[in-house]
Parts: sequence; C-alpha cells; structure tokens
Amino acid sequence: MTLRVVVGVSGASGAVIAVRIVELLATLGVAVDLVISSAAERTLAQEIDAAAADRLRARADIAHAIDDIGATIASGSYPIAGMIVAPCSMRTLAAIAHSLSDNLLVRAADVQLKERRPLILLARETPLHLGHLRAMTAVTEMGAIVMPPVPAFYRRPSSVDEIVDHSARRAIDQLRIGPQVAGPWNPSRHSSVSSVSESGDSGQ
Ligand SMILES: Cc1cc2nc3c(=O)[nH]c(=O)nc-3n(C[C@H](O)[C@H](O)[C@H](O)COP(=O)(O)O)c2cc1C
Repeated sequence: MTLRVVVGVSGASGAVIAVRIVELLATLGVAVDLVISSAAERTLAQEIDAAAADRLRARADIAHAIDDIGATIASGSYPIAGMIVAPCSMRTLAAIAHSLSDNLLVRAADVQLKERRPLILLARETPLHLGHLRAMTAVTEMGAIVMPPVPAFYRRPSSVDEIVDHSARRAIDQLRIGPQVAGPWNPSRHSSVSSVSESGDSGQ
C-alpha cells in the first residue's frame, strides 16, 4: 500500500518550505494529502507568487479544502503515516494545543495526536511570548514534535534554497517513514574545523 502523509500549510512565513516538502515526498513515492489554510493562500502569494497555491495543489495527490471538515483526513480510520505542518503559525499551533478543530488542517493534526502518529510542527514566529511557548509545551506533552525551521548554519549553506531544502529534509526524517533523506552531519565535508576551533569550541 502506498504510504500517505498529510502536509498542512498554515499562514506563517516560510511557505516555500511546504513546497519543497511536497516535492521531496513525491520523489520518495509518498502520497500527499494537502490542506492549505486561508492565511497560507496569502503567504504563498506574498512569498512566492499568485499561482503558487494552485501549483502546490497540483503537485499533491489529493488537495483538500480547508473548510471540508468531513474529508478523509478528518478521520482516524484513514491510513496516514503522519503529518507535517509547514510552516506552522502561532494561531494553528494554539488551535492544535487546545484541540480547536475548527478547520480541516487543525482537525487532521488532532487526529494524528489521538491516533498516536507523528505530527511535526514547523512552528515559525520570532520573538516568542509566553503564550507561544506554553502552546509548544502543550503540543509536545501530547506527542507532537515542535521543529522551528531554523537554518543549520554549521553546514555553511550557500543559498536560501539550500536552507529550505535542509529544513524540508529534516522535517521528513522526523516522520521516520523510511531511510534518512537529510545527509548526516559530516564535519570534514561541511567545515574546515576538524575537531576543536581556535576558541576551543567543537565544530558542531
Ligand atoms: C506575510 C505574512 C507573514 C506572516 N508570518 C507569520 C509568522 O511567521 N508566524 C505566525 O504565527 N503568523 C504569521 N502571520 C500571521 C498569520 O497568517 C495569521 O495569524 C493567520 O490568522 C494564521 O492563520 P492560520 O493559522 O489559519 O494559517 C503572517 C501573515 C502574513 C500575511
């Protein structure tokens, strides 16, 4: 049976990470059930272009409407391996933290938690106030993985695309559905610092 993953796109900055995740899952032969929030339609347009949401929907195997709360992915009986929310806004994070399943994206995330499946949240905001941090704590206590898309500067990325690609790969790896897709850290390839730097810090 084909492996299926839900990708939820909410209205935080970083819509391009969702695009890369969907592309990579396709290359891995993983079927994608996609759901895009209304705010994400806007960030996709703002951060990429006006047709970006439509192109993303076309890349998915199934694109669900955000208000279709009776869709397959709203049920725990639908065979899903896990879900990535990328990027995850503070609104969506808070809704998941309190099971406020008022749209399909939040409902699908709630389903992953109740079915004890992987739920990876690429939460994006800065700086963070106590309410954000409490919501992160709550979803972590419920079993989700909070994974802000923070650049891995130690890999010396040479472009935004490289940063986006690495964040997307790390998120997919957190699903633990197959072999690792983010290359392992290799100090000799990614750094001129072999073991201990001049300041005495390790290279990682
Ligand atoms: C260009 C743009 C960038 C935004 N960036 C963020 C962000 O990084 N984090 C965040 O929590 N909200 C951000 N927002 C605000 C959310 O889109 C807003 O809170 C929205 O209600 C979230 O709805 P959703 O969770 O249903 O997608 C941004 C909005 C816009 C228009």
